[in-house]
Amino acid sequence: PDLFRPDRANSRGWDLTAAPDLAAIGAARQPFAIEHFDAAPLLAVPAQGGAAVDALNPARPGERVGRVTQASRADVDAALGAAKVWDAPPEERAAVLVRAATLYERDFGRFFALLAREAGKTHLDCVGEVREAVDFLHYYAACITPDMAPRGRIVCISPWNFPLAIFTGQIAGALAAGNAVLAKPAEQTPLIAAHAVALLHEAGVPRAVLQFLPGEGAEVGAALTSDPRVDGVVFTGSTDTAQAIRRAMADNLAPGAPLLAETGGLNAMVVDSTALPEQAVRDIVASAFQSAGQRCSALRCLYVQEDVADHMLEMLGGAMEALVMGDPWHLTTDVGPVIDADAAREIRAYVAEARKAGRVLHELRAPGSGHFVAPVVIEVNGIDDLPREVFGPVLHVARFKGRDLPKVMAAVNARGYGLTFGLHTRIDNRVQEVVEAMRVGNLYVNRNQIGAVVGSQPFGGEGLSGTGPKAGGPDYVARLAAPAGGLSGE
Ligand code: SER
Repeated sequence: PDLFRPDRANSRGWDLTAAPDLAAIGAARQPFAIEHFDAAPLLAVPAQGGAAVDALNPARPGERVGRVTQASRADVDAALGAAKVWDAPPEERAAVLVRAATLYERDFGRFFALLAREAGKTHLDCVGEVREAVDFLHYYAACITPDMAPRGRIVCISPWNFPLAIFTGQIAGALAAGNAVLAKPAEQTPLIAAHAVALLHEAGVPRAVLQFLPGEGAEVGAALTSDPRVDGVVFTGSTDTAQAIRRAMADNLAPGAPLLAETGGLNAMVVDSTALPEQAVRDIVASAFQSAGQRCSALRCLYVQEDVADHMLEMLGGAMEALVMGDPWHLTTDVGPVIDADAAREIRAYVAEARKAGRVLHELRAPGSGHFVAPVVIEVNGIDDLPREVFGPVLHVARFKGRDLPKVMAAVNARGYGLTFGLHTRIDNRVQEVVEAMRVGNLYVNRNQIGAVVGSQPFGGEGLSGTGPKAGGPDYVARLAAPAGGLSGE
C-alpha cells in the first residue's frame, strides 16, 4: 500500500478561527437546525422493522431530533442471508471509498447539525469528527492491495461518542478488504449513522455489501455476534461488552473469526516539576474536558509532582473557570452535554459521593436543563487510589514525590488498561524512561492526549483497552482480509 507517499494528506477540515470557514459552517448547517430526521434498517431485501424510538437532543431533552425504526430479529436474519462480499476489483473499491469521502465533505453541514443535535458535539468536535471520518475513507482506500481477499461477513458495532468517525472507520476498513458489512450503530446515535450509510451507498457500495441494522445492543448486537454466518466482529465500546462478544463468538462462530475491539481506558498524565505550567494546564483541560470527557482516550488520572502541585492545581482551577458550558449549537461552547439522562445521572452520583467525602477541588456549574455535568476535579488518596473509568468530565488528581515516578507508572500499568498516557516534562531521559515503562497504545509528550490523527498516530490500546490492530494504522485492513494461505490456517 502506498500509505507513506509524500503527497498523502489528511483532510483540511475547517478552521474555527477563520471567518470564511465559520460562515460556511453556519450556512451549511442552517437548513438542518430544526429538521426532523428519520432512520430505518437499510437491507438488501425489504426490512420488516421493529419498534420505533425517538432520538433526543441531549442539550435540549424536549427536542426530538428524529425517529428510528429498529431492526427486528427477522431483519438480522434476512440481512445475514442477503449479505454478499464485494467482488469489485480493488481499484474500484478504493475509488468508491474515496468518492464517499467527497460526499461526506459535500454534506458536512448536515453532519455538523446532526452531530450537535443528536450527539451533543461542539463545533470543535464536529470538525474533528468529520475530518477523521473522511481520513479513514482515504486511508483505508490506500491500504487496499491487489491480492487481498475478504473474510466474508463482518459485523461492525460502533459507539455513540464518535458516531461518525468510528462508525465510518470500522465500516471502511471492512469494506476495503471486500467484506460484506453488517453495521449496527450505537442506540443513541442512529441518525448520524444512517446518513453515513446512505452516502456510502450513493458512492457505489452495493446494498448487499453494506447493510444497516439500528437497534439495541442486547437485541440486534447480540443476534449478530452469535450467528455462525458471521466471519468477524469489529467493536468499539465497553470492556465488559467486548468480553461478552468474545464469549458469544467463541460459542457460535467458526474458530479464527477475529474480534477487533477498542474498549475502555484509565488514562493517566504525569506532570513533573520541570513542565511548563501554562502548556500543561492547557493540555490537561483539553485532555480531560473536551468532548465532556467522553473519549476513551481522555485523561482520567493526573499525577502532579508535589513541589508544583498547589500552583498547578490553582492554575487549573482558573483555566476551568474560563470554559463555557452550554448548548453545542453555539460556537462559543467548549463543553456540551453528556450523551443521555442515564449517563448524567450516573456521573452526577459519582461526583456527589466525592463531594460528600470532601475530595472535590474544583467544580463548575452546569446549565439547569439538559444532560449537563459540570467539569470537576477530584483529589484521590495517593498514587494507588486509582478510580474506575468514569466516562465524563471528571478528572482525578494525585500528588507524587519525584522519586516515586516508577511507582506511579507501576500503579497505572497494574490496572491492566493501556490506551493513552500523557507526560509533561523537560527532562529528555525521563521521556525515554516513561516510553520504556508504560504499556499503552498511544503515549503523548508535552501535548494533550486526545485526537489521534489517522495515518500519523494509529490509535488503539493493549490489555483491557483493546485487541489491536490500531485504527488508522497500516495493519487494520489486512487484519480484516482473509489471511494469506486461506482461512483454515488461523
Ligand atoms: N481516537 C480518539 C482520540 O484519539 C478516541 O477514540 O481521542
